[in-house]
Amino acid sequence: MKAVGYSRSLPISDPAALTDLDIPEPTPGPHDLRVKVHAISVNPVDTKVRKRMAGENGQPRILGWDVAGTVEAAGERVTRFRPGDEVFYAGSLSRPGANAELHVVDARIVGRKPKTLSFAEAAAMPLTSLTAWELLFDRLGVTEDTTGTLLIVGGAGGVGSMLIQIARQLTGLTVVATASRKPTHDWCETLGAHHVVDHTRLAEELAPIGAPNFVAALTGSDTHFPTLAEALAPQGRIAIIDDPETLDATLLKRKSASLHWEFMFTRPMFETPDMARQGEILDRVADLVDEGKLRTTMRELLGLIDAKTLRAAHERLETGQTIGKLVLEGF
Ligand SMILES: NC(=O)c1ccc[n+]([C@@H]2O[C@H](COP(=O)([O-])OP(=O)(O)OC[C@H]3O[C@@H](n4cnc5c(N)ncnc54)[C@H](OP(=O)(O)O)[C@@H]3O)[C@@H](O)[C@H]2O)c1
Repeated sequence: MKAVGYSRSLPISDPAALTDLDIPEPTPGPHDLRVKVHAISVNPVDTKVRKRMAGENGQPRILGWDVAGTVEAAGERVTRFRPGDEVFYAGSLSRPGANAELHVVDARIVGRKPKTLSFAEAAAMPLTSLTAWELLFDRLGVTEDTTGTLLIVGGAGGVGSMLIQIARQLTGLTVVATASRKPTHDWCETLGAHHVVDHTRLAEELAPIGAPNFVAALTGSDTHFPTLAEALAPQGRIAIIDDPETLDATLLKRKSASLHWEFMFTRPMFETPDMARQGEILDRVADLVDEGKLRTTMRELLGLIDAKTLRAAHERLETGQTIGKLVLEGF
């Protein structure tokens, strides 16, 4: 089958950084689905893995953790899906990614694709929806009755674009998103942010709005953390998803504030007893899309799932300037 992958970690300007491959079809295990991949989207994790991890044991590495497709076969322990079902999911970082015609995934972390979206529009959503949902409800402990203020740093990125919508639609929180450019500012407003502030002048712009009770630090946490600790309300909560090299957690002591990590791959990587929650979250997201409460965050459909288009997508992501999600469709 067709796939896109690589053997050596190379800069994206090198044509061998991602190449077109012909690899054997995967076999599903008892809990797995084998999915015919129709569309995928790209995330910063693809570029990070490509830079840090070469292929192993002479095998190429296949990236891709955002999929919309059709179930082609199901393992004997699978009860929620059958061949022909349309699904969307992120998958697991400890298994091969989905930049291939057929992909195998544990059915417990799969959701039904929103009926009102195309495969391309649906492929934009799973990884960022799971991250945003887990961060808000499972890590920060927000409930649908929670009020107060949520600050989202990196509002126009993939995760921020879902978090703005989920917080606005499902909670009583006042949503403050950061954006430093006119197109990102406008995008955050379109998605429902009550206020948009510039992260290059964070302290000044937050002052008139007041201290946030919750902070989602999605991007640039290395530099923003001291300002966020200073701005946070006493007894507030902050959740981080990116990769700061260092972090001084003692800055939170005076306020009895708490620090949380969200890593979307924790449940599938460790096969936690509650890993099926990811399937439930995606089903709920699909319902909310079909009810018109959440929208796709696809901004651009770049073309076919091939090495040339994927290299272009990685190059765009590596700028750190993309808005919403970039999607590829078909082989
Ligand atoms: N832990 C997890 O489970 C998880 C899941 C998904 C992503 N992540 C990580 O989280 C990070 C964000 O992911 P993403 O997909 O949302 O990113 P993204 O789509 O690449 O975010 C791009 C946006 O970030 C904003 N931005 C750039 N530099 C910024 C800075 N210094 N401060 C604030 N905003 C900045 C830009 O808007 P402006 O120019 O307007 O600011 C841009 O539109 C990445 O490091 C990713 O690997 C982690």
